[in-house]
Amino acid sequence: MEIHATTPSDWKKADTAAALVIPLREDSALNSPLLSDAGRALVGAVRDRKVFCGKPGDSYALPIADDGARAIILIGLGPDADPDKEKIRRAAGKAIDCLRSHRITRLVIDCESHRWPVQSFIDGIVLGQYRYDRYKKPKPDAFAEEIDDVVLVGASAFALVDEVSACNHAARVCANANWARDLGNAASNDMTPAQLAFEAQTIAEKYKLEYDCLDAGRMAELGMNALLGVARGSKEPPKLIIISHHASHDAPTLAMVGKGITFDTGGISIKPSDSMHEMKYDMCGAAAVLGAMKTVGQTKPTINVLCVVPAAENCVDGNAQKPGDIVRAYNGKTIEVHNTDAEGRMVLCDALAYLVDHYAPNKIVDVATLTGGVIVALGHYAAGVMATDDALYAEIEAASKVTGERVWRFPLWEDYSAMMEGEHADLCNIGPSRQASAIQGGCFLKEFVGDTPWAHLDIAGTAWGAKGISYLDTKFASGYGVRLLSEWIRAEADSRA
Ligand code: BES
Ligand code: ZN
Ligand code: ZN
Repeated sequence: MEIHATTPSDWKKADTAAALVIPLREDSALNSPLLSDAGRALVGAVRDRKVFCGKPGDSYALPIADDGARAIILIGLGPDADPDKEKIRRAAGKAIDCLRSHRITRLVIDCESHRWPVQSFIDGIVLGQYRYDRYKKPKPDAFAEEIDDVVLVGASAFALVDEVSACNHAARVCANANWARDLGNAASNDMTPAQLAFEAQTIAEKYKLEYDCLDAGRMAELGMNALLGVARGSKEPPKLIIISHHASHDAPTLAMVGKGITFDTGGISIKPSDSMHEMKYDMCGAAAVLGAMKTVGQTKPTINVLCVVPAAENCVDGNAQKPGDIVRAYNGKTIEVHNTDAEGRMVLCDALAYLVDHYAPNKIVDVATLTGGVIVALGHYAAGVMATDDALYAEIEAASKVTGERVWRFPLWEDYSAMMEGEHADLCNIGPSRQASAIQGGCFLKEFVGDTPWAHLDIAGTAWGAKGISYLDTKFASGYGVRLLSEWIRAEADSRA
């Protein structure tokens, strides 16, 4: 997607592939420089008849030509001078069907009549146009093209320099989120641990990042028996994937870790079959950190960034790990495996301990579809976050406010940690059932990060399945985390500049 700026006088009105995007404030006069007299009369009529009044999050498409343009898309800003970004994203999502049915490939956006978060509108357009047709032929009459050109119109193109760059950045980060959605949506017979490693290596080569991948043999030498235990029941060999961006020795190092279970049958503690197919999404944490690493590769921030993905398949087999088995993790702690379905924490704990020991990062954020319990607590509308460091949580929360990927903090009180003590080992991989299960996962992982400031995002609810978010299709992975982590890293790099 190409985004550039022009002035109302330089903008060529007879643009038959374009839709005009006009923001409309409730209770404020319509004075868009993009509209002709006829167009203004039409929008005025829509407003007078109360068909569309500019309510926040609302959008309305007028499928008519105005001076040659193919449609007018009205975006509701509400009554505030500073409209909510998420509402704008959703308004964009609602306009997608109209853009498609009118075969529109260019947007001409009014940045003159009001100040509004145009970059959030771009988010909604790029995420909302996502489709996944790797395995299914699109319907023959479906419009396959996408919006590839966006013109921001303002009184002075010079004044729009920041806006253009914010919009280009938004488009790029959302394209990375869509790429992560592709990884999530791929069937598990295609998206194996080896394939995840291949995807990571491809990014590393393309953006000149460092790449390393530990195989099962190396993991055994290093004593990563928690991760290896999960992989035992599968013919797919596990991988510990590491890509990194090195900016300078004096700069801080931020680390991201993503759960890469390419399929979760539950293992011997097998899951019920009705929705087991959804467990191909159990690598969405990995997809999120890899997608954010793509942003890092493209933007080369002035801080160091590490990305670690423990990847394995959790299967049932004669060789699979059994309930009651005890393993010794990389950091020497012993773990009693009472439920082989609590496998995410088993692969993450070795990755976290190795990361701390080997790279000593300044901060760690892990992202994982870890527990069904987080869905019980928050549904599909927020990730549960557990953090050992208030400042780090504040950074995540601030990034979340920018991107609309919601977070909600849970406590990590000692009483919850006590639930994770093992009978015969240092730790048990589960605590009492149906009690703060998301927090139990967090407390377990906390045992592997030492003193490093750390935050854990449980994205089991947000990785897919949210209804009513117009720019995300419930049938597909959401790409949750790519934008959040990209923003976290951008803000950290900016704060040092
Ligand atoms: N991958 C699942 C968590 C999950 C459940 C993600 C539903 C998305 C939707 C995870 O490995 C798991 O099975 N967790 C168990 C943990 C329990 C055994 C302590 C769970 O939440 O039921
Ligand atoms: Zn599981
Ligand atoms: Zn899982």
